[in-house]
Amino acid sequence: MNVIVMGQGYVGLPLAMAAVAAGHHVIGFEPDLARAGSLREGRSYVEDIPDKQLREALDSERYQPTADETQVRDFDVAVITVPTPLLDRQPDLSYVRSAVETLAAHLPAGATVILESTTHPGTTRELVVPILEAATGWTAGQDFHVGFSPERIDPGNDRWTFGNTPKIVAGLTPACQARVHEFYASITQHVVPANSLEAAELAKVFENTYRHVNIALVNELGRLAHVLDVDVWHTLELAATKPFGFTKFTPGPGVGGHCLPVDPVYLTHHARTQHGHAFRLVELAQDVNDSQPAYVVGRLQDTLNSRFQRSLSGARILALGLAYKPGTADVRESPAVAVAELLIEKGARVDIVEPHLAKVTPRDFRAIPKDLGIYDAVVLLTPHDDFDLQHVADQATYVLDTRGVMPVAPHIERL
Ligand SMILES: NC(=O)c1ccc[n+]([C@@H]2O[C@H](COP(=O)([O-])OP(=O)(O)OC[C@H]3O[C@@H](n4cnc5c(N)ncnc54)[C@H](O)[C@@H]3O)[C@@H](O)[C@H]2O)c1
Repeated sequence: MNVIVMGQGYVGLPLAMAAVAAGHHVIGFEPDLARAGSLREGRSYVEDIPDKQLREALDSERYQPTADETQVRDFDVAVITVPTPLLDRQPDLSYVRSAVETLAAHLPAGATVILESTTHPGTTRELVVPILEAATGWTAGQDFHVGFSPERIDPGNDRWTFGNTPKIVAGLTPACQARVHEFYASITQHVVPANSLEAAELAKVFENTYRHVNIALVNELGRLAHVLDVDVWHTLELAATKPFGFTKFTPGPGVGGHCLPVDPVYLTHHARTQHGHAFRLVELAQDVNDSQPAYVVGRLQDTLNSRFQRSLSGARILALGLAYKPGTADVRESPAVAVAELLIEKGARVDIVEPHLAKVTPRDFRAIPKDLGIYDAVVLLTPHDDFDLQHVADQATYVLDTRGVMPVAPHIERL
């Protein structure tokens, strides 16, 4: 098949590589010139795709990354993997709209267009289909096909990869679904049919909403446990011994990444503005998780006061990890960044250790410094595998561990 993947990011690049590996001819359309150039030179910016794999795809001559819109033509299948961010705290579907318009300009008869970007129910039917029909004068389901297949990629996860994670597929009509099914069956191991576009769209956004709400629940439990002087981490370990009916989530500095802080807003905003329906539990979870970085800073401030008679203003703090989760350089919506910014705002002198990012200021480190005695406190925000936490435990005066991964000790406090 001739495949076009619109957007070569965390989702689009692995998809393009999987399609090349399956024998398809793939154009990876990427309007960001720096990204397209990097791909052409065989340099990957997505951790899950090593340069070697990218170079093999280029050498096969079945993968062509490009920023040239005129290459977007003559395809059997086009998959849209563009960002669906928030703008002024509201869903921003402009990237999806623009990608569909590009495809609509050269849509071949009989082609299949699939949306993978996470969005609210109704987007494929109410946004994608009308743009394609208006530009071509054709009818979706007859002259061309349309589907939705949500992405579940978990960057850095070796156990569940693009190939072995079940893939939900939905189509506008049964014929559309058959085309979408056929494409994904050629590149993934498990395809799960959905009986409508909206069910598939809602399933994806609910998966992330479920995580968001449960994380908010344990974050709030953590605050209560602190007041009660109970160790929330131990409490959660106890609860998790129940072999049924309980899934363990753990507290942290908040939620980050492109998905959890963003996707539930697509659902709550759509529910409120289009249907006058408030999804209250989710809105409450958003409040709790949004205020978690401030809670972490408050805890640090209280401890400096009570244990060391020291104010946060002027204190030297070492923040470990800026990415939103271990093993990645992704700082989008990272609560660790919010914590660091709040600390700086309150007058703390903050040094940062983030091994996955380039050093931007003299106060950034790529590895944990030897001398930790100069810091009033160390705050562990993102526990990257390459952090020597034993060194931190041995050398730091005081540690606030927001992820519950450090040993318990008098000078180490867990959130
Ligand atoms: N990253 C994840 O872990 C993940 C997981 C599941 C679902 N998703 C969803 O997948 C979608 C893409 O996320 P991502 O993390 O890959 O984003 P990303 O920012 O890494 O990549 C998107 C790419 O699309 C490009 N782009 C922008 N406008 C375009 C256009 N008009 N045409 C073609 N390309 C365009 C951007 O330059 C960018 O390189 C989002 O809806 C996201 O919610 C992401």
